[in-house]
Amino acid sequence: MAQRVQGTEDLYGGYMRAWQRMQDVAREVFGTYGFDMIETPAIEQVATFVHGIGESTDVVRKEMFRVFSGALVENLLAKGSEQGLKAKQRLALRPEGTAGVVRAAVQNNMVPQGSAPAKLWYAGPMFRGERPQKGRLRQFHQVGVEWLGAPDPASDAECIIMLMRFFERLGFDPKSLRLCINSMGDAACRPAYRDKVRTFILDHAGEMCADCLERAELNPLRAFDCKNAHCREVMAEAPLAPDNLCDECDQHYEQVKRYLDEAGIRYEEDPTLVRGLDYYTRTVFEVEVVGSGVGAIGGGGRYDGLMELEGGKPTPGLGFAVGFERIVLALQAQGVDLGGKPEGCVYVACTPDVRPQVFGVALALRDAGLRVEADHQGRSLKSQFKQADKLGALVCVVLGTDEVAAGMATLRDMRTHEQVQVAQADLASTVAERMA
Ligand code: HAM
Repeated sequence: MAQRVQGTEDLYGGYMRAWQRMQDVAREVFGTYGFDMIETPAIEQVATFVHGIGESTDVVRKEMFRVFSGALVENLLAKGSEQGLKAKQRLALRPEGTAGVVRAAVQNNMVPQGSAPAKLWYAGPMFRGERPQKGRLRQFHQVGVEWLGAPDPASDAECIIMLMRFFERLGFDPKSLRLCINSMGDAACRPAYRDKVRTFILDHAGEMCADCLERAELNPLRAFDCKNAHCREVMAEAPLAPDNLCDECDQHYEQVKRYLDEAGIRYEEDPTLVRGLDYYTRTVFEVEVVGSGVGAIGGGGRYDGLMELEGGKPTPGLGFAVGFERIVLALQAQGVDLGGKPEGCVYVACTPDVRPQVFGVALALRDAGLRVEADHQGRSLKSQFKQADKLGALVCVVLGTDEVAAGMATLRDMRTHEQVQVAQADLASTVAERMA
């Protein structure tokens, strides 16, 4: 039997309905904040991710799935290396949505100088070559937003509030959500802070793991995220980002917190929250469901330098993304079934002699916008009713010899089992009323 790739899932039935429901809630909630949907390709030039996410991040170095056409692979095998490939031949499946959306905003000039900001949201599959485990997949689905052209700390707060409202609308118990925030500084103050952390790690070189020593050179702030308990103990004494902000960043952070307080949003400041993508500046945030064991269900932050890194004009921006699969797991643990039941349907049942009439009746009901099921296997009337029950039909239309001769049909309410006779001409409107 053909097998799914490890760390990927098939979305169907209730799981598919959950994915669609999440997009419906996103459209509703993000729409109230003025966001429109965008869809960018799942495949981009490697350079788009290297510029944006950062060459030294795990996502770019270790997790990105590279894409080569068959012809290119033959060529590479013949040459024995990918040296000499042009930028447009170096492709990857997107590990996240931000870099591609920002690339699209630059390429399509979505934020011309002096114009209104671009407010975009997206939903789709992302790909990371991670070791698969509960809540960690190689193909997973994100819903995300990117807000380009927004420098104001009120936009950081609005973004975070929008995220929390989204989680509440999905059905999370608000008390179970833990929102952590931090400020990572900007181009003015972060380089000096990075150097401080690098020096700290090197001063404690004997106590830290080999990965952290490598991080000291490449990306020292990632040492705060080391899985090794001893490294974490050492890093607890390391210099913290909020203590090393320049005045502008400090004021920005203070104002973000003031807006969150004003909106009554509960948050915890986590001065070690650094996130795994290099493009962040100033505010960063992450949300987890306490006790769910699935890791962060969403995260994001500000990235004031990213538009420039993707070749655009300096344009401040910010956004977040949430993980569909983790959200479903965490909601299930709270007894919430995001997918819910399929939409109720109408079942058109008949006695064998009038079977040809079902075709036209079903067609008319469908044209009236109803979800209609009928038998195509020559079942008895009794097993048609059973089938209707199994499909969750709310109403059954029953066609028998006498009804058809009189231009009538029997309507059977599947919940109350009440039956009424209805003229076939009035069938669609009467059924629609019952379904409502
Ligand atoms: P991220 O924190 O890497 O941020 O991913 C966002 C969310 O995607 C995570 O909180 C998690 O729920 C989910 N996720 C990430 N990796 C996996 C995985 N391997 N399996 C299942 N779920 C996963 C970003 O991607 C940024 N682009 C967010 C952003 C948008 N920042 C600014 N704008």
